[in-house]
Amino acid sequence: MPRERNREHPETGSGTIKIAPSILAADFARLGEEVAEAERAGADRIHVDVMDGHFVPNISMGAPIVQSLRRVTRLPLETHMMISAPDLFLDEFIEAGSDSFLVHWEGNANLHRTVQRIKSLGKRVGVAINPATSAAVLEEILSDIDQILVMTVDPGFGHQHFLATTVPKIRRVREMIERIKPACDLEVDGGIDAATARLAVEAGAKILVAGTAIFGTREGVAASMNGLRASLHPVEQ
Ligand code: DX5
Ligand code: ZN
Repeated sequence: MPRERNREHPETGSGTIKIAPSILAADFARLGEEVAEAERAGADRIHVDVMDGHFVPNISMGAPIVQSLRRVTRLPLETHMMISAPDLFLDEFIEAGSDSFLVHWEGNANLHRTVQRIKSLGKRVGVAINPATSAAVLEEILSDIDQILVMTVDPGFGHQHFLATTVPKIRRVREMIERIKPACDLEVDGGIDAATARLAVEAGAKILVAGTAIFGTREGVAASMNGLRASLHPVEQ
């Protein structure tokens, strides 16, 4: 019940929900300013979408962007590796300043090795699953990781519609986390805005990635982030 939840977590009404702005939707010509604005508005981390035109049908950015961002923000830089061979690029991204990595379950026959390698390099690691992938594939890797990323759109592009079919899966992943490793974070990514954030949070998500809903809106970064947070407050009755 909303009022119950409000008493439990007076600060947001939905627990300590973190926001991770995705710079994929930012104006790259003003990247430093956009990220600084997000930081001032209370962003918890910056989400960097790396695409290689092979794992997903789009090319985005590489380690030089992380390196530039590292100079202008103190926020953790979370690197979402939508690339075919993430292992080959870990050192480069760590050198540039990445704090954590999200690697996909899909297409990685050696996921355990990738996860262990990231941990051995002293970085946080999360595993991402696409909308068509079952939550069940996480069962064996969950105890080894810090975070799970449930994709709420098929990866590759910003500005897509949130897939409501992923909501029961978010709930299943939350149950699995509580059973196997309660300290594991649960993040969602794709089509998150003031309407869909609530669905994801009610299903158990604790970190929201949002690109389009934060950067390039008419109201600006700060107002958009405030709107996103406000949407998580319980409905007053
Ligand atoms: C999708 C990316 C997302 C995306 C989110 O492939 O992983 O991080 O940029 O953008 P929006 O919020 O616009 O869906
Ligand atoms: Zn992403």
